[in-house]
Amino acid sequence: MKRTIKYLGLLILVILIILAIVLAYIGGSPIPSYATADFEYEASHTPGMIARGAKLSSMLCSSCHMNRETGRLTGGPMKDVPPDWGTVYTPNITRDDIYGIGEWTDAELLYLLRTGIKKDGQYSPPYMAKLPKMADDDLDAIISFLRSDHISVQAQAVPDQPSDPSFMVKMLCRIAFKPFDMPDARIEMPDTSNRLEFGEYLAHNLECFSCHSADFATNNYLEPTLSKGYFAGGNKPLDPEGRIMLTSNLTPHKETGIGNWTRRQFINTLRLGIKEGEEGLRFPMMAYTMLTEHEAGSIYDYLMTIPAIENKVERSVY
Ligand code: HEC
Ligand code: HEC
Repeated sequence: MKRTIKYLGLLILVILIILAIVLAYIGGSPIPSYATADFEYEASHTPGMIARGAKLSSMLCSSCHMNRETGRLTGGPMKDVPPDWGTVYTPNITRDDIYGIGEWTDAELLYLLRTGIKKDGQYSPPYMAKLPKMADDDLDAIISFLRSDHISVQAQAVPDQPSDPSFMVKMLCRIAFKPFDMPDARIEMPDTSNRLEFGEYLAHNLECFSCHSADFATNNYLEPTLSKGYFAGGNKPLDPEGRIMLTSNLTPHKETGIGNWTRRQFINTLRLGIKEGEEGLRFPMMAYTMLTEHEAGSIYDYLMTIPAIENKVERSVY
């Protein structure tokens, strides 16, 4: 009996030592790396595509990479990451060859935006956007914009500040977060005159669903409609002071969603960031001034067709 207890104690000690070694290994090792881009790709770089890319990136990239002091995408501290994720800085993505992404090929950019794998093979944690479902043409537009002479991406020699992701982020990047696969076929744009199809595309690819469903952790980025509490709000992004900003229920539920909103009311709120008789919409929600009436209206038309979910979300007030 005594002997069994002795062996058991020894076994537990060995397990603890192994666990400590594994944890120390994860804590001390970088975020994992994967195979790099192995295909040829050249974006179209036409003026029309560049303009379209500028518009898309003002909605999808600027919130993190734009630096107010330089007026360009030179990056800076990301204040709205949860404190237990560590400190995160966004890098300089202007065309600077040394400090920016001047040396990246179009294929490397496409690969990063689709899969989350950077030029050097390292996986980019979830605080960097990934666009696994966006149409090829829209990605082509974003890449054309990044390589253009547009003022916000002109080369500027601002060095990156190193991020210090927490142990938890590093561990999750080993066990939970994995890169997305490159799609095996082209992803076509939906028919933009079909308001429901176009609205769904925008609601998914402008990341509305990602903030407006139950939780980032239970979102399904490959099949957004399967996300927990799809569009029923209650997710908890942070404001720049690190306070929770509950997201609104955008399902057509009459009492707790936007079922009683008119199309006009929705378009105005979305594009101007205003709410009748209330304080305007606050960060991280932005005023989508760049969306056309047709785009904003299509999102509304689509949202009116999704399942209504009863979920009362009180607006965060500070
Ligand atoms: C929520 C914040 C956020 C958004 C939105 C975002 N990024 Fe990033 N991005 C980051 C962070 C943080 C990193 C650094 C990731 C890392 O450390 O691996 C990064 C890395 C990058 C890199 C790699 C640069 C390098 O030098 O390693 C590129 C390129 C990039 N982002 C482009 C974009 C584009 C294009 C968009 C819009 C489609 C975008 N990002 C949207 C936060 C963001
Ligand atoms: C980064 C997270 C985030 C993204 C992306 C986002 N939202 Fe929001 N949204 C919020 C938050 C947070 C609020 C609440 C803001 C407040 O209380 O001031 C909000 C509020 C709203 C409201 C007001 C609803 C109400 O009941 O008051 C509408 C409408 C809305 N968002 C639509 C959209 C659409 C459409 C998109 C995509 C084009 C989108 N949002 C993308 C976070 C986000």
